[in-house]
Order: sequence, then C-alpha cells, then structure tokens
Amino acid sequence: MQTPSSPDALPGLRINRARLLARLDALGRVGALPGGGVSRLALTDEDRRGRGLVIQWMRELGLRVTIDAIGNVVGLRPGAEPLAPVMTGSHIDTVRAAGIFDGNLGVLAGLEVVETLNEARVATRRPLAVAFFTNEEGARFPPDMMGSLVYVGGMPLAQALATKGIDGLTVGECLKRGALAGSAPCGDPEVHAFVELHIEQGPKLEREGLTIGAVDGVQGISWTEYTLTGSPNHAGTTPMSLRRDAGYVVANVTCYVRELARELGGAQVATVGAINLKPNLVNVVPGAAVFTVDLRNTDEQRLQEAERLVDARVRAVAAAEDVTVARRTLSRFAPVRFDPAIVARVERAARELGHPCTRMPSGAGHDAQMLARVCPAGMIFVPSEGGISHNIRERTAPADLEAGANVLLRVLVELASG
Ligand code: GLV
Ligand code: MN
Ligand code: MN
Repeated sequence: MQTPSSPDALPGLRINRARLLARLDALGRVGALPGGGVSRLALTDEDRRGRGLVIQWMRELGLRVTIDAIGNVVGLRPGAEPLAPVMTGSHIDTVRAAGIFDGNLGVLAGLEVVETLNEARVATRRPLAVAFFTNEEGARFPPDMMGSLVYVGGMPLAQALATKGIDGLTVGECLKRGALAGSAPCGDPEVHAFVELHIEQGPKLEREGLTIGAVDGVQGISWTEYTLTGSPNHAGTTPMSLRRDAGYVVANVTCYVRELARELGGAQVATVGAINLKPNLVNVVPGAAVFTVDLRNTDEQRLQEAERLVDARVRAVAAAEDVTVARRTLSRFAPVRFDPAIVARVERAARELGHPCTRMPSGAGHDAQMLARVCPAGMIFVPSEGGISHNIRERTAPADLEAGANVLLRVLVELASG
C-alpha cells in the first residue's frame, strides 16, 4: 500500500465509470416502477432491500459496517493512522416516484472511490467513511434529513423514533419491522470533514454549460401542515353563503403561495405539495382538509416574511369561510453556509481535472447541511438534464456522473491526506 501526501502523488488515479453506472442501475432496480424510475420510500420493504444490497457491497469492499439506532449505515475504510474519518455519502431512500440518482449517486460514488483506492492499493492517512442516512427525503416521515439530524445531535433519538408517517406508522415501528436498526451509538464515528456528491436537481449547470457545482450553501426550508375544519354539506342544496368549505380555503392558498413567490422574487419558491380533502366526493362540500406548504429561500429574513404572509392568508380566508385552522411545523431549517475551504477545494479539484465549475447554493435539502453542524462540510453538484428531479425522468449524463465522482475522489484523498 502507498500512502500519498496529496492527490498529486496519484496523477492517473480515476474512478471506473462503468462500475459506478452498474451499481446505480442495480440499486435502481430495487423498487423499480413499471414505467421507469424507482420507489423506495424510507423504511419500506423496498428501502430495506436497497439497504441490504448497499451493505453487501460495503462488506465486499472490505468496509467495516456499523448501523445505529435510527438505521444510519456507515462503512469505514481504515486509514494509516487511527484518526477521525473523512466521510462521504448521502441517502438511498426516495420520494414515491423518483429517479435513480437522487441520493444514490452520493453513496455509490463513495463506494466507487473506495474501490478505486483499493484497486490502486492506496492507503489514506485518515480513514474514509461512506455513509447513508435514514429518511433523508422526509416524504414519508417529516422532517427531511432525519437520520443525519439525529446523527449530529439535532433531534433526540426518541423524538425521531416516535414520528408518525403519512400512513400512521412510526419510524420506530418501521425500523423494528424491517430489523433496520443497529447497536452503534448515534453520531459515531466523529467526523473530520464531510463531502457529498449529488445531482443538482435544478437547471443551472446545464443552462450554463458547466459540469461541476461547488455548492456553497443550502437554502432555508420551511414545511408546514395545515388542518382545516369546516362542515361537510350537500353540494346541490347548500347556498354559497352558507358553506364552510375547507377545500375552497386550500385552493385559495394554493394560488396565493404561487403569486407570493413571484412577488417576493429572488430565491423564494413556494409549493402546496400535498392536499387531502374530506370526504373527497363529487357531491359533498369538503368539510375538512389537510395540506402542506413548502417554502424555501436562501435568505432567512425573507423566508420568515413568506411564512408570516402565508399564515396570515390561511387565517384570513379560513375566517371568512368560518373554517378553523390548526398548524403544525413539519420541518424548519435555516439556510446553511458550507465551509469556505472545502468549497475552494471542490473548485480547485474541478479545475485541475478540466471540468468547468461554478459556485452555487443548493435548492434542495441534503445530509451535508446537517453534518455541517459538527464538521467542515461541502458538496459537489453535477447537472440534471432539464433540471428535472423527484420525477422518474431524472437523468444525469454518464460523463457528468464520472466527472463528479472524480472530483469527489480527489477532494476526499486531499482531505484524508492532510
Ligand atoms: C429533500 O431532500 C428536499 O429537498 O425536499
Ligand atoms: Mn437527495
Ligand atoms: Mn430528494
């Protein structure tokens, strides 16, 4: 084994594109949907099978695998010295109808880096760790980034385990059912630095003809669930003046958040993504509704302003309709800035490898934003075709996947050599 003092000691070292693509395809077949894409909502049977496959690969690569009480999985490759590891990774859970790259790329590129180093018989000074964190998507159990949030001590384990999902089951029940939890302490090992490769999931890199994004931060995320109670009544006989229509309130707010985001401009985005009407029948005025609002902004003050305006609108329209309102925060994270030295390293590595690169914020939430609470952290983005993600048509060109993984290899070796 050779132990490089910097990646320059390893001039020709590159990841194997075909091997990376083969693992992405194989994991993408677990929970594959008939029309393309994949569905592995957190802690479902599909997620359990995906986890099994990735853990098997970790073991085949000689990684020492540990699993904690919320099901976060860490594969460790020892270093020449018993120091805190440099960690990479992401998530393998998905939204209900997803592409095969979101999250999976970060985990499988981590394994590809390990295999490349194994093959070249390169030992790093610090250990390298490849992790995948439980329930990053938050689509089944809020909040998003739950596993990494617990890992960094941002949410008590008991609170996470007691969280109910959209189907009424708790995280704890689902972990138990799938035997997905392990005995490692949450937050172990302590991490020296964290770097995550991810698809951009937006249009910027493709539009600008760039290959690599050096991600300098993540915008703030606000998820709110509103429960409205009016009165179900006959759609044919109830005069408009006597209705207590929860569905109308949802529709009004759905249109409002879109106008609001346009009006506020800048980075503000706003989405009503889930609506549940009761009784949801053609001839009944909806007597109750549950719906969600997702607001995001890179500026915390503006995000707070958007939250205030949306809440005021919900309450005003509901009051006029004689509908009562209950509000619950599902997820709330302030904007995050990544470590400037890691951002600069990503830029430098991209430049040295000949890939055009820009600094950019992330529009999506990521595990790296949680790890940033406990260690220097950063991210590498590669382009998403058409800016499409959370969609079975999500795609990134093989050459871009390869470029991102090579930047990751370089940055990890640098960080683990220092
Ligand atoms: C989760 O990763 C999100 O950004 O919605
Ligand atoms: Mn993701
Ligand atoms: Mn996602």
